[in-house]
Amino acid sequence: MLGSGFIARFYASSLHAQRRKDSICTVYSRNIRNAKRFADDYHLPHFTDDMELAISHPDVEVVLISLPNHLHEMAVEACARAKKHVLCTKPLGRTAAEAKKMLQMVEDSGIFGGYLEDLCYTPKFLKSVESIQSGAIGRVLWTKSREAHPGPHSDWFWDKEKSGGGAIIDLGCHCVEIGRGFIGKNIRPVEVMCWSATQVHPIEAEDHAIGLVKYANGAISQFEVSWNFRGGMDLRDEVMGTEGTIWINGFLRTGFEMFSTGKGGYVAEKAESNSGWLFPVGDEAHELGYPNMFTDMFEAIETGRKPLESFYDGYIVNAILDAAFLSASTKNWEPVVIDDWRGDEIAESGEKFTSYNEQYYLIKEEILPNGDISLILKDKKTGEIVKQNRK
Ligand SMILES: NC(=O)c1ccc[n+]([C@@H]2O[C@H](COP(=O)([O-])OP(=O)(O)OC[C@H]3O[C@@H](n4cnc5c(N)ncnc54)[C@H](O)[C@@H]3O)[C@@H](O)[C@H]2O)c1
Repeated sequence: MLGSGFIARFYASSLHAQRRKDSICTVYSRNIRNAKRFADDYHLPHFTDDMELAISHPDVEVVLISLPNHLHEMAVEACARAKKHVLCTKPLGRTAAEAKKMLQMVEDSGIFGGYLEDLCYTPKFLKSVESIQSGAIGRVLWTKSREAHPGPHSDWFWDKEKSGGGAIIDLGCHCVEIGRGFIGKNIRPVEVMCWSATQVHPIEAEDHAIGLVKYANGAISQFEVSWNFRGGMDLRDEVMGTEGTIWINGFLRTGFEMFSTGKGGYVAEKAESNSGWLFPVGDEAHELGYPNMFTDMFEAIETGRKPLESFYDGYIVNAILDAAFLSASTKNWEPVVIDDWRGDEIAESGEKFTSYNEQYYLIKEEILPNGDISLILKDKKTGEIVKQNRK
C-alpha cells in the first residue's frame, strides 16, 4: 500500500474485512510514524518510509496507489520498473497526457493496470448496468450522475498544481465513468460542453461544475459536481431509456435514518454533523463498491482477464475531463481527443422509431380518464400526424 491517508484506510478496511484472503503486507508512508500507525491498525507485518523498498518487498504481488494525484505517475513508473502489478486510485492522471503515459508504462512492461473507480462497482450500479444490458429500459438516451459534498479533507486537493483541478477532476472522474458505464463503454465519447465556477472557496480551481458529454450513438451524459454542497455527500444517478428509467440514491438517503443528540462520533463520509436527524450508511465500503472492486481486480489478475475498470478506462476519463476543462474556458463544445480509441467506430444501430403498423409510426399511446386509448400516429409516407381513439 502506497500512502496511509483517507483512501488507503478505506481500501485496507475493505481488504481486511470479514474473511477475505487478500491482505496488505507492507505500507509506505513518507512519515514513518504514520506508516507504523497504519501497520498497527491493520496488523501488517511490515512498514516503511521508502517507496522503492515497499514496492520491491518480496511478498508484494500487487501495488495499490493511494497517493495524491500528482504522485500517481511517478508511482506507476516505479511499479513498471519493478514489474509489479498496479492498482491506481482515481483519477488516473491529472490530464489525459499523464494518464496515457501511465497506460503505456503498464502495457510496455506487461504488468496489470487496474483503475480503482469504486463507484462503478457499487451494488446499485452493477445491478443497473445488468438491467440496461438485458434491455429492461430500452435504448439509453440520457444519464445524469451527481457527486456533491462540502469539499475534500486534505490540503493537496485544493492545490490545482497537485490535484490537476477542482471538483471536475476530483468528482467528475467518477461521474463521467458512471455515465460511460450506463451508455456503454464501447461507445465513443465525442464532445463536451461544460460550465464551471469558483463560487465559494479562495482557490484557483473550480468548486462547482456542470457538464454534458455527447456520445457517438446520440446519447448524452450529464455530470454535476460540487465542493459547495452542504448536508453530507450527495451521490445520485439517473438513466432515461426508451423503455424505462433508473434512479439511484447512493449515499445520503438509503433508507437508514437515525436521530442523535450528538453523543456519537463518525457517522458517514463527509457527514457534516453527528447530531439531529442523520443518514448513516449500513456498510459504507460495500455501498461505495470497494469489496466488489477488489474482487474483480484480483480475479482478473489471477485469471489473466481484463478488469471492469482498467488503466485504459482511466485514460478515457481523463480525455473527457480535458475536454470539460477546455470547454469551461472557451464556452464551446470541445472534442474529446482520444489518440487510441479501442471501442466501436459506429454510431446508432437499428430502427430509431417504433412502427405501429405498415402505414404508421407510433408517437404516443395513453389511457385517458374515460378509459379510451389515445394513439398519436405518424404516416410513414406523408408525414401527417393523426390521433386515433380506441375504446
Ligand atoms: N472514492 C475514491 O476512490 C477516492 C476517495 C478519496 C480519495 N481518492 C484518491 O486517493 C488519492 C489519495 O487521496 P486521500 O483522500 O487518501 O488523501 P490523503 O491526503 O488522506 O492521503 C494521502 C497520502 O499520501 C501521502 N502524501 C501526501 N503527499 C505526499 C508526498 N509529497 N510524498 C509522499 N506521500 C505523500 C500522505 O501522507 C497520505 O498518506 C487521491 O488520488 C484521491 O483522488 C479516491
